[in-house]
Amino acid sequence: MTKEAQKPVVKVAVIGLGRAGHFHLQSITDLPQAVKLTWVIDVDKEKAQRIAAERGCNWSDQLDEALKGPDAVDAVVIASATDTHFPYIMQALRADKAVLAEKPISHELHEVEEAVELAKTKNLAFVCGYQRRADRHFRELKRQLDAGAIGNLKLLKTCSRDNPIPPMEYLRTSGGIFHDMLIHDFDMLDFLSGGQVPESVTATGHSYHPEIEAMGDVDICAVMFKYASGLIAMVDTCRNASYGYDQRIEAFGERGMLTAKNELTSTVELAKADGHRMPSALYSFPQRYVQAYKSELTEFIELVQAGRDSELHRLEQKAMLRHPNVVRTTIAAEMSWKQGNTMEIAKVDSLLTRTPDGAVATKVDDMQRPEKLRRLDIVEEMLSKYEKHCMQTVAFVKEQHERWLKFDKGELSVFEALQILSDLGDRRGLQAAERCRGQGAPDWLQLVALIHDLGKVMALPQLAGKDLLDEWAVLGDSFPVGCAPDMVGLPDSKKNLDHSHPLYGTKNGIYQSGCGISNLMMSWGKDEYIYHMLKFNKCTLPAEALNTIRLQSFSLWHEKGAYSQFEATEDAETLKWVKELNQMCRSDRTGDDQPAGFGQADWMVELLKKYNMDGKLKW
Ligand SMILES: NC(=O)c1ccc[n+]([C@@H]2O[C@H](COP(=O)([O-])OP(=O)(O)OC[C@H]3O[C@@H](n4cnc5c(N)ncnc54)[C@H](O)[C@@H]3O)[C@@H](O)[C@H]2O)c1
Repeated sequence: MTKEAQKPVVKVAVIGLGRAGHFHLQSITDLPQAVKLTWVIDVDKEKAQRIAAERGCNWSDQLDEALKGPDAVDAVVIASATDTHFPYIMQALRADKAVLAEKPISHELHEVEEAVELAKTKNLAFVCGYQRRADRHFRELKRQLDAGAIGNLKLLKTCSRDNPIPPMEYLRTSGGIFHDMLIHDFDMLDFLSGGQVPESVTATGHSYHPEIEAMGDVDICAVMFKYASGLIAMVDTCRNASYGYDQRIEAFGERGMLTAKNELTSTVELAKADGHRMPSALYSFPQRYVQAYKSELTEFIELVQAGRDSELHRLEQKAMLRHPNVVRTTIAAEMSWKQGNTMEIAKVDSLLTRTPDGAVATKVDDMQRPEKLRRLDIVEEMLSKYEKHCMQTVAFVKEQHERWLKFDKGELSVFEALQILSDLGDRRGLQAAERCRGQGAPDWLQLVALIHDLGKVMALPQLAGKDLLDEWAVLGDSFPVGCAPDMVGLPDSKKNLDHSHPLYGTKNGIYQSGCGISNLMMSWGKDEYIYHMLKFNKCTLPAEALNTIRLQSFSLWHEKGAYSQFEATEDAETLKWVKELNQMCRSDRTGDDQPAGFGQADWMVELLKKYNMDGKLKW
């Protein structure tokens, strides 16, 4: 038996199964010898149940059960919404469990102090998910810095620009850009400066995004710190960088400079007579920090395995004290932005005040916030549309082609894909197909109705894996990219970067008048995917069937007559069938034609065979 195999397997519960929950689940999958996923927990019971079934573990919508009984865990990974971190941390620590909590521990300094105090008193492993500390590039920069490569450190610069803009629903409970994003940079400053606490901070910011402004938050920020040692640190951050995820660090010292450049999709640079072309940036944090998330979890598990008497544990207990420092710095930076002046870090504690119910609040709280949040609820329905129209650019669509049109995600039969959607309560395809058949529609339209929604699998982790897409990139209306929007009655989408592009922002953009609707590059979503998937798998559906699938959600065209400058004669046929399909798919129909369960009717099997879609297809 190897030494590795003798280490105890750590039983783990993961709380919160969203974006962060998924990267932790992935890291757990990568450590089969050391970790046993025993519980998954989410307030979204269906999600918890589904993921538990996929992973073969227990599920719950609360933590209690995972802490006791035969399947009790040794450690808890907390990746739920930010405002739930502190109560879960305390519950897990009180039950003597080791904790890896996503950042931030809490926005409240006294809660962070309480959590650290409890972890120390109980002598338990308590790690916060500042994964940049585990990133190989930043670690190498730190190693050289500590080895004296640039001598005395004079200036630190960190840059972190997110992509894509997070869902508005997420931002509403994120605690704002200071506690949600900048705290990562402030933790890096602590890491790189060797735990120095700044003396003062000056921050400024602006909101370009109306919904973020309505939350009382900003989407771009610059923060400057001054330290007693003379060190100056500068941080710039932004919620959305058009060119992809951007994370850089520069350390300037008396004998040189260390730079950690942004990580790109490859290291290959193309040089030609007209210039040099670099590869694109990585898409977002799950791609950029995949190694760091795994190292972070591996090190946490090693810490738990090492035991409470180990040197590793003793060092981590000592290092835990940085958490209140980083949160104090964050609060000071947020105060500086709100008040528009330089804040002395030492004054922060005296500026925190107790409210009558005992909670601690900053004196500079934005009292309008609740009202602004209510306003946001009203427009929420519009947001996914808004988000989609902002985010779908030529570059984004090309990137999705790159990710999805290789069809290397797995193999599924049409019935297996239908079963997945059916298990999630989505039987629209089956219902629409039955209606088509009942009304004597052509057999290919019956089949199109059956499969018209299967592209939704792009939003399912079991198929999408690392390329999992948010809803706005899978569902909703479609429209062409590469030309100016012709969006009657839709929210303003001026934030779409292509709209200020010299070519993509013009009426015809990259197309010619009369080029044909089916020749447009459509926004990325379920229809585009299923259209290409059918072609890739050499199904023999007629062209009008494929065009109908592809353009089914382009309601700006088929309902509102927009983009008519691109129409060609042959589009009239597609238009007729798209309208027919939409009529059949309308969910407001009541009727007894809706199948109660999911069965593979013989006629479906026959049609799949006829159009070469039986058996497994590549997705
Ligand atoms: N370290 C990083 O790089 C990183 C990246 C993304 C998010 N995060 C952090 O992870 C946390 C989650 O962010 P996300 O992007 O995954 O959000 P998300 O909205 O995608 O997922 C949050 C999940 O938590 C669940 N949840 C909410 N309240 C819960 C509760 N009381 N109990 C159990 N489950 C609950 C939700 O149903 C959802 O499934 C945030 O605090 C965020 O700051 C960290």
